[in-house]
Amino acid sequence: MCITISTTSSDCSERGVKAVPQSELFLREISVDWDEIPRDSYLRAIPALSALRHLPFHCPVTFFVGENGSGKSTLLEGMAEALGFNPEGGSRNYRFSTYDAGSELSGALRPVRGSRREKWGYFLRAESFYNVATAEEEYAKLSSRGSEYYHRRSHGESFLHLIQTNFSGAGLYLLDEPEAALSPQRQLTLLAEIDRCVRAGSQFFIASHSPVLLGFPDAELLCFDGGGIHPIAYEETDSFRITELFIRNRAQILRRLLCADDGED
Ligand SMILES: Nc1ncnc2c1ncn2[C@@H]1O[C@H](COP(=O)(O)OP(=O)(O)OP(=O)(O)O)[C@@H](O)[C@H]1O
Ligand SMILES: [Mg+2]
Repeated sequence: MCITISTTSSDCSERGVKAVPQSELFLREISVDWDEIPRDSYLRAIPALSALRHLPFHCPVTFFVGENGSGKSTLLEGMAEALGFNPEGGSRNYRFSTYDAGSELSGALRPVRGSRREKWGYFLRAESFYNVATAEEEYAKLSSRGSEYYHRRSHGESFLHLIQTNFSGAGLYLLDEPEAALSPQRQLTLLAEIDRCVRAGSQFFIASHSPVLLGFPDAELLCFDGGGIHPIAYEETDSFRITELFIRNRAQILRRLLCADDGED
């Protein structure tokens, strides 16, 4: 079965998404060569990925959304490695490894590049941020920059500091759940940082559950739920719908949820 997401520019505009010409993107598409993936690989059991053959991108900012375990990080990591990034995170100059983070998918992914080439890039995962920060400090000590003291700041402070000092110009950036480190206030700051970079010509891929981050204007949201990867409008995402429902009906939802064991409906 060959499934291609055929989102066109007009599809994007119907969803309020402003597409740019694909040639202007650093990464305009990825395809998967399933012949390169073992028959017994767990990748074949992830519905969103097993159906994936070609995935085109249309916007400078693409979000991966979907339920826990739907395959967002697996694809993001595979893309990062296929694009030459350290699988554990960092820039392309980083080669540290604290665990076996290699992706089974990366060798089967074929990135299709646009006519522009990024000058810089970074792969940042909240879950291995400590290891990236350690490598950043080591690098800073060896260079003329001086130590950046990541470990003397809080998780969120140092995460945002790393972005503010490393993300610039026309770069290619992959972020896995950046909201895990950030307060709502600092997520707004991150939105402004992403906007700053996009205006300078950057492209972002971000796996996220955050209704704040997903609200970035003109981003394309790709949903991994329901058996394949498909575009989705911001207001249709679970992150938006469930958060809105909860905030509007908190007392009622909590009453039903927490009293369920007492036999109340
Ligand atoms: N090395 C592995 N071996 C076997 N299964 C794996 C491996 N890595 C991930 N998985 C499985 O692949 C599925 C997709 O995982 P993935 O981390 O991509 O989900 P996700 O969409 O990023 O979820 P979350 O929102 O919780 O971060 C999960 O069911 C996970 O258990
Ligand atoms: Mg994940």
